[in-house]
Amino acid sequence: MTTELFDKVIDRTNTDSLKWDKYAGQNVLPMWVADMDFAVAEPIQKALVQRLAHPIYGYTPANDRLVSAIANHLKREYGWEIKHDWIVFLPGVVTGLSMSCRAFCQDNDRIMVNPPIYHHFYDSHEGKRQTLEKVHLHKVDGRWTYDIERMKSACAKDLSMIMMCSPHNPTGTVFTEQELRQVGDMCAQNDMTIVSDEIHCDLVIDGKSKHIPTAVACPEHADRIVTLMSASKTWNLAGLNISFAIISNSYMREQFVNTCQSVVPMTAPLALIATEAAYTSGEEWRQSLLTYLWDNYKKIETEIDTIPGLALEPLQATYLAWIDASGLGIDNVQGFFEEHGVGLSSGEQFGQPNYVRLNFACPASLLNDALQRIRAAVTTLKS
Ligand SMILES: Cc1ncc(COP(=O)(O)O)c(C=O)c1O
Repeated sequence: MTTELFDKVIDRTNTDSLKWDKYAGQNVLPMWVADMDFAVAEPIQKALVQRLAHPIYGYTPANDRLVSAIANHLKREYGWEIKHDWIVFLPGVVTGLSMSCRAFCQDNDRIMVNPPIYHHFYDSHEGKRQTLEKVHLHKVDGRWTYDIERMKSACAKDLSMIMMCSPHNPTGTVFTEQELRQVGDMCAQNDMTIVSDEIHCDLVIDGKSKHIPTAVACPEHADRIVTLMSASKTWNLAGLNISFAIISNSYMREQFVNTCQSVVPMTAPLALIATEAAYTSGEEWRQSLLTYLWDNYKKIETEIDTIPGLALEPLQATYLAWIDASGLGIDNVQGFFEEHGVGLSSGEQFGQPNYVRLNFACPASLLNDALQRIRAAVTTLKS
């Protein structure tokens, strides 16, 4: 499959797009929230159209075909053999984070998170019942990773859970087996539940790194792990609202399901259909996507390297470039670039104010435009 299909600029006006409508009527390119400006893979759209042709959209549980498609994908990609009944469907990964806090934490419990991190890691706990223990990632050989010694020290405060983001948003790190095992061992030693958000697992783009599910890296600790996944980031289905938790420990799974009862809605039939098509017929499209995204990332690298005051962080996975803008010496970096026609995500949202995050899952022509605007914006600082 050629990557040229990703070059096509698709007008998203009049689709009520969160990403594009933020700047409706303004000359600002939206490079913020994590959805892609690419059409979904053809088999996904076909499956949806076929299902839509039947005019009844009633309550629809996940069927065996979908569950098998997920299990086969996990086996093929990660060598992970799961039992079908370990899967719990949810309308979103953020729902999975929130439900985990509610199911596995008590009053006054402490939960570890590792900033900078996707902003919902800061608000998924029950603010009045649990507190967050923030242990920042640190940079080793130019790559953001866990500061395991500081994490172990923090465990002295009697933590009950960690929420991991693997691969990591916004730094783009793919954690190694050794890094994951260190975290797994630390959690086992301190009797902590592990919630591993792996929504970006199928988006390793550097052609070298390999995502390893935390439960695969630490099989001996699998009975304390909740894995959260979805086809939504990789196959651009975010608006369909679907994800799933994989929980091998039957006691934990029951606690989790009971917590969701009467609160979390069933997933929608269209979301189930799209997910099945993604895992069964979306692989060729995904491979082309990964190539295209890596080319886009390389463009950003080439440009940003020559813009004074900006430094691009090396990235292994995701379509979200993490850019250090501290060299610009301005307070509101996001606002500055927005004024100059590029809508980025503010680093502050993730816990690192001098950074911005650029979503590069868009046609190369749009990305080039955004990069030229960024260059022009920085040039104004000199004059
Ligand atoms: C790490 C991470 N988790 C969860 C989500 C959102 O997942 P959902 O829309 O399924 O709640 C995102 C979206 O960008 C993300 O980056």
